[in-house]
Amino acid sequence: MSETNNSGTYTNPIRQLLDEHAAFRISCNDLLGFLERLEKEGYLASITTSDYAMMLKTRENIREHLNVHLIKEEEIFFPRLEKLVPQGRIKFLYLNYDHEYLRIYFEDFCTIVSDYENDRVPMHVTVRKLIETGKLIVHNLLQHILAEDTVYFEVAESGFSETELNEMGKEMKQLEARLKEEHHPISY
Ligand SMILES: [Fe+2]
Ligand SMILES: [Fe+2]
Repeated sequence: MSETNNSGTYTNPIRQLLDEHAAFRISCNDLLGFLERLEKEGYLASITTSDYAMMLKTRENIREHLNVHLIKEEEIFFPRLEKLVPQGRIKFLYLNYDHEYLRIYFEDFCTIVSDYENDRVPMHVTVRKLIETGKLIVHNLLQHILAEDTVYFEVAESGFSETELNEMGKEMKQLEARLKEEHHPISY
């Protein structure tokens, strides 16, 4: 399986998605550690400066996951993957549902961060909401990543030709560059 094209720029599409999963799994586990600490401290829990930094980092990581990774899957990978398997569209529909739930949870998470920043709610309410929404995010994502990894490994590695893989890898890299440019335009 070729990882790059002749100029060495297009990595294998499955490798790209799996690497992004691995990075995101680490981020989820960091968030989970934070949530467990808040839960243990109970009513006495308060958000320190480093906790706030963690909330911001998590928000950025999820935002990137939603704005780049999910779009690469939805626009490029899923449509091709679904064609490989009989009734693939229906079979993998649950993966799309997970994406939609994650988008909803992320909006809630952004509201919690913003309420906290603007002192709109008492600390214990922020803590409770963080634990609730944070756990929904972590569980959704860890399960989802596991399911995708399994599907990707089983179906995709053997199902696509070398040419298809190269094309997808190239398209994904181009889409990623475009999306990152849209969301973080370089200012001159
Ligand atoms: Fe996904
Ligand atoms: Fe994924």
